Amino acid sequence: MSTRPTITEQVPDPETAREEGARKIAWARQHMPILAALREEFEAEQPLAGERVGMAMHVEAKTAALVETLAAAGAEVAITGCNPLSTHDDVSAALDAHDRITSYAEREVDEDEYYAAIQAVIDHEPTVTVDDGMDLVAAIHEDYPELIDSVVGGCEETTTGVHRLRAMDADGALRYPVFAVNDTPMKRLFDNVHGTGESSLANVAMTTNLSFAGKNVVVAGYGYCGKGVAKKAAGQNATVVVTEVNSRRALEAHMEGYDVMPMAEAAEVGDVFITTTGNRDVITADHFPKMQDGVVLANAGHFDIEIDLDALDDLAVDRYEAREGVEAYELADGTRINVLAEGRLVNLASPIALGHPVEVMDQSFGVQAVCVRELAENGDAYDAGVHEVPDELDRLVAETKLDAEGIEIDELTAEQREYMDSWEHGT
Ligand code: NAI
Repeated sequence: MSTRPTITEQVPDPETAREEGARKIAWARQHMPILAALREEFEAEQPLAGERVGMAMHVEAKTAALVETLAAAGAEVAITGCNPLSTHDDVSAALDAHDRITSYAEREVDEDEYYAAIQAVIDHEPTVTVDDGMDLVAAIHEDYPELIDSVVGGCEETTTGVHRLRAMDADGALRYPVFAVNDTPMKRLFDNVHGTGESSLANVAMTTNLSFAGKNVVVAGYGYCGKGVAKKAAGQNATVVVTEVNSRRALEAHMEGYDVMPMAEAAEVGDVFITTTGNRDVITADHFPKMQDGVVLANAGHFDIEIDLDALDDLAVDRYEAREGVEAYELADGTRINVLAEGRLVNLASPIALGHPVEVMDQSFGVQAVCVRELAENGDAYDAGVHEVPDELDRLVAETKLDAEGIEIDELTAEQREYMDSWEHGT
């Protein structure tokens, strides 16, 4: 691992760290009109007074704007990271300086430190949990079941977290209500598609200083994230190759004009590989020996299990840091395979990573904020299990954003509404 300071580590003393963190948060806040509007309402109405919100999320400036909004609503908030490499220490320090906020997040923690910080958040006895990957829900259910009765509910930010929660729910093991924030249109159609697309490609380009133009970019998984990565790579003049396991998604990619093939074939032609499946073992020992010299491998899925780095390490005869954030694995025939950000979410864990664009996270976190308020105000109305975000809350976030952008739209007339709701009008 690099010993050079990264973008998040260049600040020498705690006071300067807090100032720098506050400056980053202020910039994000300026571009988050949905959170600004909610914050004004929350400050006046204090809907979270008396609530303790526990959070495990990527601790950087946009998340900090959400945390401050929840604190402004009257909550006490304890937060830690949801990935050992994504925390910005200066932002964490700035949050921790707030009266009603405690931040345990630190960058480059080992596994024990990571879980100790999760435990520290749970020690605040949260009444609401906000997760990105389900770590808090899992730890509370496994290690602190006595707290479950006092939790009114939770919110889950990402696809992988929602998958895990649905599996838990199906087993009858999920004992409080959780909103699938990931699945609601105002999150998934923007954050997963545009956010992951833009920020993953930007981070691959910045970390390697290489161009996409003229390259074969292999996108593993053509779900919401994969669609964004593919579209934006094509927009940068790459030839896009898609690998899938789902026939309908494979056909969508084909009809979009991309080459579709199994990873065993894609391995031979790809220059850059970006995994977005949320699954494990997508690029494995079967594929590395087929790859060209100098290929770049990056993962944008939630966990660092999509590229089998242990297998790559076993195959390699040499391994070294080729650039900051780029680990080169050299095979016996001299082929160099370059892995970015240790196979963790490239848009959040590479040394220069800033995560999604601010505007996108304003939408995702606008949904989070209204969901936390819904739990505080109406939590009793929801049974234990995974819940869709109520449609009116999702729409409220869309309307707030349109207002902020000064965009007006048409309204259905009474006749149109009656026509759309009727089955009697035919030819
Ligand atoms: P999705 O469920 O819409 O798409 C995943 C796709 O991968 C599906 O079409 C599935 O058929 C395909 N797939 C599964 N196994 C595969 C395999 N072995 N080979 C090829 N394709 C395979 O999920 P979504 O929303 O696109 O999320 C994907 C991952 O990205 C999740 O882990 C999610 O948590 C994460 N995520 C990451 C973000 C980031 O900032 N990097 C932001 C949002 C989500």
